[in-house]
Amino acid sequence: MNKTTRGSFTGKIGFVLAAAGSAVGLGNIWRFPYLAAKYGGGIFLLVYIILAVTFGFTLMIGEIALGRKTGLSAIGAFKALNKKFSFIGYLASLIPAIILPYYSVIGGWVMKYLSVFLTGQCHSATSDEFFGNFISSVGEPVIWFLLFLTITAVVVLLGVEKGVEKVSKIMMPVLVALSVVIAVYSMFMPGALEGVKYYILPDFSKFSVTTILAAMGQLFYSMSLAMGIMITYGSYMKKDVNIESSVKQIELFDTGIAFLAGLMIIPAVFVFSGGSPEALGKGPSLMFVTLPKVFDSMMGGTVIGIAFFVLVLFAALTSSISLMETVVSILCDKLKINRRLVCGIVFIAIFLVGLPSCLGYSIWSEVKVMGMQFLDFFDFASNSVLMPIVAFFTCIFIGYVIKPKAITEEIEISAKFKREKMFNVIIKYIAPICIVLILVSSVFDALGIFKI
Ligand code: PHE
Repeated sequence: MNKTTRGSFTGKIGFVLAAAGSAVGLGNIWRFPYLAAKYGGGIFLLVYIILAVTFGFTLMIGEIALGRKTGLSAIGAFKALNKKFSFIGYLASLIPAIILPYYSVIGGWVMKYLSVFLTGQCHSATSDEFFGNFISSVGEPVIWFLLFLTITAVVVLLGVEKGVEKVSKIMMPVLVALSVVIAVYSMFMPGALEGVKYYILPDFSKFSVTTILAAMGQLFYSMSLAMGIMITYGSYMKKDVNIESSVKQIELFDTGIAFLAGLMIIPAVFVFSGGSPEALGKGPSLMFVTLPKVFDSMMGGTVIGIAFFVLVLFAALTSSISLMETVVSILCDKLKINRRLVCGIVFIAIFLVGLPSCLGYSIWSEVKVMGMQFLDFFDFASNSVLMPIVAFFTCIFIGYVIKPKAITEEIEISAKFKREKMFNVIIKYIAPICIVLILVSSVFDALGIFKI
């Protein structure tokens, strides 16, 4: 696509809200609270926040600056700066194309739950079999998946300014307001204080290397790093917008919503389960099995349940929009064809790739890839393998090929780069080492070879 016809965000707020929309997603609301509970509550929170302002900040600022510098999405951006390294762009672009299909399947589940709460059937969702019966049916999950994907595609079709930016400007404030209301409600339930304490007060005896690795893995996913999204969004950013302060605001959003999600969920589950954090360690079923029970037991639970699932749906939608926007933008840059046509092709392709994840719990439940269900396999391949690899090469690329100075120059077009020193040290030395550790530990963990 020609640079002059490329869309752009109207200004800083539009950019920050859209990027925060991408970052704030299912990862914040469902994954963060259960990881925090599993890895010791307050100590995980503390480690996570420290990593977000150092490590996360560095990677995010690097990616956004790469995008804005080149005005191109991932493939084009790496290629434009050094032809030999265009493979990083290709690898990065593969990730949203892998995540979007299964993310939309889960988005469909969220829509189903919202419809259950909206129609006042909250109680029926509390039985243990409800979720299992739903995902193991054939037609319904596919219809919800298709609906979620269609909404995403319509927004992307409308373009960067009229679609992505507008939707983020409406959804993100609603999301913040709902998070605050539900978190306050949950915190003040009788008996919730123990849960709040567990979540907020760090217990240093629970600190271990695993805490750091788990927090770092979560950080990548949560901040939508290492998959070309922030490069693409950076390419839509105007040159006079301050990159450093934008990144700080995106981080505040992302970490703030994750923090609030913990406050919503941990105390409520504590009350419900009589103070055992184990009820939280249930992984995927937390949101779809445990929480409906928690809502059902609360006063005004249907209303809180509706608010909660609207919140999750908005979070999931703004993220899926960013995933599809990235795929579309890369193809537009590459194929130089009409955006509408690209949207249509991507829509169909994502639907087809998503089908195995959707049907992996029903007619294809016997089929396993490396011992995993399709959805888990795609999640593993993208988050635990490809993302660390891309992040590693991105650090090497910035640290040693184009050199950190290139990023500093881009940032300083609009303002002085205040944390330049920290950026340089992390991108060149600390980040590459930590990323290799994450990669090794998550692959070993998945293969069951050894657990740190
Ligand atoms: N960052 C999103 C979340 O926290 C997930 C996501 C991953 C979004 C990849 C876009 C791309 O859920």
